[in-house]
Amino acid sequence: MSVSLPTAASLYDRVQRVVPPIEWPAFTGDIDAILALKRERNAVILAHNYQTPEIFHCVADIVGDSLALARKAMSVDADVIVLAGVHFMAETAKLLNPDKTVLIPDLGAGCSLADSITASDVRLMRQRYPGVPIVTYVNTSAAVKAESDICCTSGNALAVVESLGVPRVIMLPDEYLAKNIAAQTKVEIIAWKGHCEVHERFSPADIRELREAYPGVTVLAHPECPPEVVAEADFAGSTAAMSDYVGRHKPARVVLMTECSMSDNVAVEHPEVDFVRPCNLCPHMKRITLANIRTALEENRHVVTIDPHVAERARRAVERMLAV
Ligand code: 13P
Ligand code: SF4
Repeated sequence: MSVSLPTAASLYDRVQRVVPPIEWPAFTGDIDAILALKRERNAVILAHNYQTPEIFHCVADIVGDSLALARKAMSVDADVIVLAGVHFMAETAKLLNPDKTVLIPDLGAGCSLADSITASDVRLMRQRYPGVPIVTYVNTSAAVKAESDICCTSGNALAVVESLGVPRVIMLPDEYLAKNIAAQTKVEIIAWKGHCEVHERFSPADIRELREAYPGVTVLAHPECPPEVVAEADFAGSTAAMSDYVGRHKPARVVLMTECSMSDNVAVEHPEVDFVRPCNLCPHMKRITLANIRTALEENRHVVTIDPHVAERARRAVERMLAV
């Protein structure tokens, strides 16, 4: 029996609400080439919720928030993983798949949170607070994870902190995520001073203006936003939690205080919901394009490697998180 495989032409229906017809022809050549290369190389594409719709809906095999990508990376049955996201996500996929080839299409796809802390900063925190466990956000380098006791994502941070059964933890490096979690638990949280350059730009004034302009709008915020923003939102959660919220509550009109592509990707699934779209672009996420995903598969680049000594300790911190 022959199985018909998707082609770019058959995929436009999926994204027609968010990709204008005039832009579509610019994507079709790369989409068809990527679909063929994935079969040739036995490759899968993991894409974060902030990837543009033509990547997210047309070539990705696995999509989700940082937690889902880490979990699903563990059971990938392929020789090659292309990470359509940022470098720390590609490192996490490599940690969980040491024997597979993991590619990141642009090595410059970094993260302001990952850049805010080094392994020696973590060692200094440990010296300063002896015996206090260190919970590290996945938005960090493998070297930073290796110095940590356990990782977390925005989707499981509260559960991870509370799983430790201690009165005090250090939570690195996102100051706002740490404060937003501290507001939900009795555990004392010592924070670092890192910020996400995308989410730190939202303010409570933005929310008030939106509520005035769109009475009744539902406001969802990512926990990397400042606590004053989260306090004024109707709900705060990881990118997957925001997407689930829209699916469960089907608000008539919603605004997602997060990266721009998120609304496009969720809007594709929920045509009945009206998305108001003030958003901030992540310049790192936007470095990934169909063109460089194609080149990554054609030229086998850029291969993600991690020093084996670092990898062993960093993997332990990620696996502890996944066991929570
Ligand atoms: P989540 O998808 O885990 O909510 O993370 C958001 C983020 O900023 C990843 O870069
Ligand atoms: Fe980093 Fe923020 Fe961009 Fe996510 S959105 S990759 S946390 S800079």
